[in-house]
Formats: sequence, structure tokens, C-alpha cells
Amino acid sequence: MKTIFSGLQPTGTITLGNYLGALRHFPPLQDEFNCFYCIVDQHAITVPQDRLQLRKNIKSLAALYIAAGINPEKSTIFIQSEVPAHAQAGWIMQCISYIGELERMTQFKDKSQGKEGVSSALLTYPPLMAADILLYNTDVVPVGDDQKQHLELTRDLAERFNKKYNDIFTIPEPRISEVGARIMSLQEPTKKMSKSDQNIKSTIFLLDDEKQIEKKIKSAVTDSEGIVKYDKENKHGVSNLLTIYSILSNKTIPQLESEYEGKGYGDFKADVAKVVIDSLKPIQEKYYELLDSALLDQILDEGAEKANKVASKMLKKMENAMGLGRKR
Ligand code: AQP
Repeated sequence: MKTIFSGLQPTGTITLGNYLGALRHFPPLQDEFNCFYCIVDQHAITVPQDRLQLRKNIKSLAALYIAAGINPEKSTIFIQSEVPAHAQAGWIMQCISYIGELERMTQFKDKSQGKEGVSSALLTYPPLMAADILLYNTDVVPVGDDQKQHLELTRDLAERFNKKYNDIFTIPEPRISEVGARIMSLQEPTKKMSKSDQNIKSTIFLLDDEKQIEKKIKSAVTDSEGIVKYDKENKHGVSNLLTIYSILSNKTIPQLESEYEGKGYGDFKADVAKVVIDSLKPIQEKYYELLDSALLDQILDEGAEKANKVASKMLKKMENAMGLGRKR
């Protein structure tokens, strides 16, 4: 059976973008693959986090994983910092990375631009991400479009290690869906929707209530043309709403375009909001049932135990290949 690894950062409540680009793809893979779904809290601290809020976000993300359909009996759900091999293997991958290749990462440029006191980890987190993936002999990594470059780096680092030390890593393939791999901000639709966007009107969070969703979609930036038509170059806002609507309703974009012919943006936006609300409702209901249950901790304990077993074996192989410590 082939292996899947993927993760999301507990940097806040996840967005509709994280859901459509990544999380919604996780449950259907569970029958076909051996899946590891991680809450990557060590990545979250590359930018400052409030201690109590981070703790809350970690549990909240675990509950959302399950509420969105990840079945802990089929998949391993765990918290990155509870599996020490990640940080240890991350250090090794950092040692074989070049500063130049890390400085070329778009996410580093975006997140550090114009900021003072940027943590060095913002530069070196892609090698940690490579370690996350490589520790599990991962074959496939389902991610959104923004992670493509990090996946390419992961493949380069794995090949470099295999060639230089010992051929121990499986070279992973990214799996990026054709639609929904980059959901855009509702207020600046040329920019991706992001958890940490300062303007909350830009982002639909998975736990937003009906009113918040209606308000945000109603105020989503469109254009003055008044025609519901997909045109990614000239109608960013409308195209983004059509993408969201199409995925969640299982209707094609041409189908939606003809449904809204002659109608204005008002009707269209009201229906987009409805489909988002209806899609998130069952996830939210399950989430609230799970959040404070003892079951959630039990799932995370079992997940950490399973992940630790697999990851520590690979870490030993890495250390042996490089001559670290004593031979075991
Ligand atoms: N806008 C998006 N559209 C589609 N997919 C997206 N992803 C992120 N944004 C979009 C995918 O979600 C997964 C988890 O992302 P992450 O939590 O590791 O962090 P990120 O990519 O940096 O996402 P955010 O929301 O922008 O978080 P912050 O604000 O903390 O940096 C990945 O598979 C990603 O591709």
C-alpha cells in the first residue's frame, strides 16, 4: 500500500481555501493509501504565536480533521511536536540544504518582505517540511498550489541525500487538484485566501456562522460588468466565487454560467453563500461534538504512538547514513 502524508498549520482556524485545496481531498484517499495527517505546530511557530491560542488551535484543527471526514481508524492523525523525529530529521535536512535555494522560496519572500525581526526558521522551514514527508516513506502529498515549490525542494533534498549518503528515501509526488488548488482572497482576489490575512473579510473560516458567511460573500470584490462569467485574467473575483460554487455544488462552471445568465451578482452571491453554509454545516456540527471530548485526546495519543514508531525508524536510518552517534 502506498503512503500519503499531508499537514496543515494550526495558525488560526483553517479557511475555505485550506479546505478546498487540501483537507477535502484527505478523506477519499483513506481506503487506497496508508495516510498520515499531521498538525504541523512546529511550522506554526516560525511566526510569533500566542501560547494559549496555539494550544487551542491545535486541538481545534484535530477536531476539524475528523469532522471533515478523516477516520482515525483508517488514518494516523497526530501532532508534529509530539513526534520528536520531525525536528531531528529537520535539522539533518537543513544541513544538506543551500541558503540560496531556501531564499528562492516564494513563501519566504512573501512572509518576510518588509518585516523586521524575521525568524531564521521562516527561511529554514522547508527542510523541516521535507523531513515531515520523507520520514514516512511518503509516495504522494496532497497539497494546494502554493506548496508546489516546497514539494519540488523536498524531492531535490531527498535525491541529494540518496545520492550522497544512502539510498533510503522514497521520492514523493505532489498531488495538486486541477480545481480549487488556489482559492483567492474575497477582498483582493489576485492574492490567495490565507488564515493569517489581517482583513478578516477576505477569508471564510471553516467555523464561520451563517451570518458571517453571508456578509463576507455579499461584500466580496467583483467587478462592474454584472455578468457571471469565468474569466481568470479579467474577472478574478467572479471566477473565484464560481470556482467555490462549482466545487461545493458539483455543478460545472459552464452550467453555473448559463444558470445565472441575465441575473445580477446579488442573486449569484446569495446562492454562493447558501452552498458554502450548507457544505460547512455538517462539518461544524461534528466539530462541536468532538472538540472537548476525551475521544479526541485518545485519537491524538494513538496517532502520536503510531507516527513515532514509523518516524523513529527512518530517523535511525538517516543518522546511520550520515555517521551520527554510535551505530545502532
Ligand atoms: N487559498 C488556498 N487555496 C487552496 N489551497 C490552499 N492552501 C492554503 N491556502 C490555500 C493549502 O492548504 C494546506 C495547508 O496550508 P498551511 O496551513 O500549511 O499553510 P499555508 O499554505 O501557508 O496556508 P495559509 O492559510 O496561507 O496559512 P498561513 O496564513 O498561516 O500562512 C496546504 O496544502 C496549502 O497548499
